[in-house]
Amino acid sequence: MGFYEDYISRTPASAKEAKRAQAVIPGGVGSAIQFWSPYPIYVKDSKGAYVWDMDGNRYIDYCMCYAAMVAGHADPIIAEAISEQARHGTLYGMPGPLAAELAEEIRRRYPVIDMLRFTQSGVEATMYAVRLARAATGKMGVLKVEGAYHGANDALLVSTAVPTSTAAGPEWMPSSVVESAGIPEGAWKHTYIVQFNHIESLEYQLKKHEGDIACFILEPCMTNGGVIPPDPGYLEDVREITVKYNVLLIFDEVKVGCRIAEGGACEKYGIKPDLVCLAKAIGGGTPLGAFGGRKDLMELISPLGPAVHFGTYNANPLTMAAGLACLKKVLTAEKYREMNRLGERYAAGLEEIIERVGLPACVTHEGPLGGIQFVPEKPHTYRQANSCNKAMWREYWYGMLSRGVIPMGSGWFEEYSISAAHTEEDIDETLNITEDVLKAIKS
Ligand SMILES: Cc1ncc(COP(=O)(O)O)c(C=O)c1O
Repeated sequence: MGFYEDYISRTPASAKEAKRAQAVIPGGVGSAIQFWSPYPIYVKDSKGAYVWDMDGNRYIDYCMCYAAMVAGHADPIIAEAISEQARHGTLYGMPGPLAAELAEEIRRRYPVIDMLRFTQSGVEATMYAVRLARAATGKMGVLKVEGAYHGANDALLVSTAVPTSTAAGPEWMPSSVVESAGIPEGAWKHTYIVQFNHIESLEYQLKKHEGDIACFILEPCMTNGGVIPPDPGYLEDVREITVKYNVLLIFDEVKVGCRIAEGGACEKYGIKPDLVCLAKAIGGGTPLGAFGGRKDLMELISPLGPAVHFGTYNANPLTMAAGLACLKKVLTAEKYREMNRLGERYAAGLEEIIERVGLPACVTHEGPLGGIQFVPEKPHTYRQANSCNKAMWREYWYGMLSRGVIPMGSGWFEEYSISAAHTEEDIDETLNITEDVLKAIKS
């Protein structure tokens, strides 16, 4: 029996639930990324580093809700903060004291953020940051990286993959390809694409569209395409060149923010963007995002200025309480050190296994986030990562699942995420399972 068949034979209850859900929910899932063939596991419980599916199978979880569950599942401190707040109300539609406290904690971690506004998600954070950049500069053009995902908003859902239906364009001048039906041309025709870790590509587009570009939105460490860290000097060059062309620099730290360091990529790489987008880690497992940065820019937000930012659920006390518990009580400096230590141990262990087994694969990582890439050389761009052996990745995915590990998010381009709840024993157990699975793939 192959890995795929193993997976199906141990998940009959998930199969049944998928059938039920598919009748009322497209694909039976809340977001396309939650679907994999022929059906995903349906989760009935979670705790720490583990989730249990409806058949009672336990999995060591490295998807961690696409890196959002930094504290681990059902953390008792966060759960208590949520229940305590729920007893006092979940939505006021008027401000309370928790929002400023959380904003202050984020500003402590990110000195580059003078002021911020909260959203419910990462997609809203990037959408509002781009709107603000356009409002501040009066220019409409937006630069983004090929293969980078910034959420499903109309202006940014462009070239999140290497196109297969049209020519991809040369590496230094990738084509802009809209990734969904239903997006009007006007929404994305000002979105231009550059290659990650390729400063000539950025300079080419800046020159070509000089005077039209409001901002460059960039994940400083790419997390679509596995984890692709910036090459030495790349971010410094990006900062210099965006200043030279008078273009605002937005760091999309939705995934890496408060994750690869207390102060995310800004701290890790020592770069000062104009605006930063956050989500995932800052909400302690509840739906929370934020965008913030320079005071002069943030003061353009309504009611102070002309750039509108609205939302019934914005800065609601429930997510504020969860975020505060997560950032102030759970994610201590010690926890970051431990997550990084485990991240190093896991990446080194994976590299040794790949070497021993002799597979054309490699490991890329930034602290606790990383991934096995089924390409022989570490990729520096999404295009290089995209040339991976997808059939081999698929075997790895089902092999790990059928042995009780969710090794990463559910696509070759996702990453593994080690949380504050993972232990050395989890890592070592996972490495043993990985060795068995990769040996089976090799044979
Ligand atoms: C870098 C990045 N930006 C934005 C988003 C969108 O965030 P959300 O799913 O919270 O809307 C994601 C989602 O994974 C992301 O990885």
